[in-house]
Amino acid sequence: MHILSGSDFLAVFGRRHSLHCFAPGRVNLIGDHTDYNGGRVFPCAINLGIECMAAPRSDGRFGFYSANFPKAGVSERSLNEPVRSGGWSDYPMAVIRTFSRFGYVPPSGADFLFKGNLPDGAGLSSSAALEVLTGSVLCGLWNWSVTPQQNAVLGQFAENRFIGVNCGIMDQFASAMGRKGHALLLDTYTLDLEYAPIDSSRASVVIVNTGVKHSLASSAYNTRRRECETALANLCERRKIPSLCSLRKEEFAALSDSISDETCRRRARHAVSENSRTIAAADALRKGDIAQFGALMNESHLSLRDDYEVSCDELDFLASCAWELPYVYGARMTGGGFGGCTVNLVKHGNEGDFAACIKDAYRKKFGIECAVYNVIPGEGAGILQ
Ligand code: GLA
Repeated sequence: MHILSGSDFLAVFGRRHSLHCFAPGRVNLIGDHTDYNGGRVFPCAINLGIECMAAPRSDGRFGFYSANFPKAGVSERSLNEPVRSGGWSDYPMAVIRTFSRFGYVPPSGADFLFKGNLPDGAGLSSSAALEVLTGSVLCGLWNWSVTPQQNAVLGQFAENRFIGVNCGIMDQFASAMGRKGHALLLDTYTLDLEYAPIDSSRASVVIVNTGVKHSLASSAYNTRRRECETALANLCERRKIPSLCSLRKEEFAALSDSISDETCRRRARHAVSENSRTIAAADALRKGDIAQFGALMNESHLSLRDDYEVSCDELDFLASCAWELPYVYGARMTGGGFGGCTVNLVKHGNEGDFAACIKDAYRKKFGIECAVYNVIPGEGAGILQ
């Protein structure tokens, strides 16, 4: 079942679409705030995402309409105007600008209709999905041969350069490169990728949305990144290393006193320990040891909470509720933090009970509902038939 149908495009733009694409959101199982430190991440694309219908137009302009924000109407944009206008269409425009800058100049304008079922601002990478989706549409409209990996890198460039969030490569990569039934073990330093099967007959990936997004999220993200850069610069005065995550835990322990600031030292300790947990988690999954995988997820939450300080009361509460349940292998905050979602690995067959318990506890504690999504690791972006 698709989210958009041909009549939707016709109703908005008065003509037929020529292309229909999809790009998924992602959830990260383990390995957060390692992707801009040269470490491993372990996300999967999910079966929630955004669709786009598009058709070229002859006047060189771009029209954007989102069926999720119908009141905003169609935004008309052009390549020689500034990208940042403060609206959601900055994302696709940023991608078009990026592609042009790297030699993929659209030969004409185009109209785009978007609609998604990813909750917005929930940390499931709706921005990355929108970027990767726009890239896929551009390639589909004009037959550009850009690999999914290049599309991801261009999407990240668009976000860094034009949106102003200094994110790593994880989200765009997962959205572009996802595979059904698999998580992606990605080395963000080399971009080496290994697909790891998730056995859904044993465990389900369940996402719980706090429903909150703390306002400082993107500025705090950039601050964390700077703190890691300071820590790396301090370490390099003692020993030249390419990235924080190139250190093993013991090596870091022996060098860490060269990081003068205590906060920066804790940020770096998180990056190093999270990277080693991610490698260990991938090993555990290869051996079918889901209990060990879950234990590492729990440790990851504590490190993100205490050393990296990107959790919040709502995330801590949801994680600790899940830890109490006997059929939960592991639970942690996922993604950038400061609100957003937890990811939970739940023993197959207990998903309904899990959702009921968590919702009830959350309502009692915070007086609001939390949404629970039982997701299936899905395919990356592509053209829909
Ligand atoms: C956000 C960023 C990613 C990554 C995560 C934290 O989702 O976009 O690049 O850094 O936070 O792991």
